[in-house]
Amino acid sequence: MKITVPKILDLKNSRQISMMTAYDFPTANAVSEAGIDIILVGDSLAQVVLGHDDTLSITMDEMLHHVKAVTRAQPDSLVVADMPYMSYHNTVEEAVRNAARFIQEAGADAVKLEGGNKRKDVIEAIINAEIPVMGHLGLTPQSKNIMGGYKVQGKTLDRATQLLEEAVLLDSIGCFSMVLEGVPSVVAEVITEKITIPTIGIGAGVDVSGQVLVFNDLIGMKSKEYIDAKFVKRYSDQYDEVVKSLKQYKVDVENKTFPSEEHSYGAGKLTSENIKEWKKEIKKILS
Ligand code: KIV
Repeated sequence: MKITVPKILDLKNSRQISMMTAYDFPTANAVSEAGIDIILVGDSLAQVVLGHDDTLSITMDEMLHHVKAVTRAQPDSLVVADMPYMSYHNTVEEAVRNAARFIQEAGADAVKLEGGNKRKDVIEAIINAEIPVMGHLGLTPQSKNIMGGYKVQGKTLDRATQLLEEAVLLDSIGCFSMVLEGVPSVVAEVITEKITIPTIGIGAGVDVSGQVLVFNDLIGMKSKEYIDAKFVKRYSDQYDEVVKSLKQYKVDVENKTFPSEEHSYGAGKLTSENIKEWKKEIKKILS
């Protein structure tokens, strides 16, 4: 059954919400079949699939391309499209238009964007356009230059209080949930207790309403290098498996053991006699 925004709100106190990134059709199928509640088409796509160093260079058009691939799988999971850098930083009108493109053109169910106070007007306007918004606080990768890198946030009482205030703000203006990334577990726990909407943690400990991981990290499909973040749990090592398969394929091609009979088409109505005739014909045509 399709997961909806009200269903995610109902799951706040279950503390069992599962969210996973997906960027293409087969992955969306697998994530949905596994019963994951939310698919995030994250801008992490820039790094883990497109090979960029950070998330700052991915565009609306690139994100739309991948959100469309995911929604084509018609997953039961709620599909949240991540708004890329500069798609909501200019004017409120432009932000609403871009959010609406994810819904109208790509079939997403909701959007996610990073930031608190600074994004208040934009978030309110998008929600006014009937588009559900997931917030994102803490380590917000699009602010990496302001933050001086990917650093755990909220490590002083002042910063933790500021984070809490921003979380309360996102709750009060109507976000249906928020990602808490790279914050001390205790800070995420306090925020989760104080607000009414679900918190989805990544590097935020277990006392939140749910968890999210990047699919490629989970399956061990590295892009350039594996990211060394403490919060990543690798459930398999697909990169090694893929390289192993490719090496075996190369050996099979070199040894002519692929394709075997099993992977080749039989002669059908062709006989050695009529093939001989056919070859003669071809020789005539080509001479
Ligand atoms: O882009 C992304 O994958 C994300 C998650 C890490 C929350 O924003």
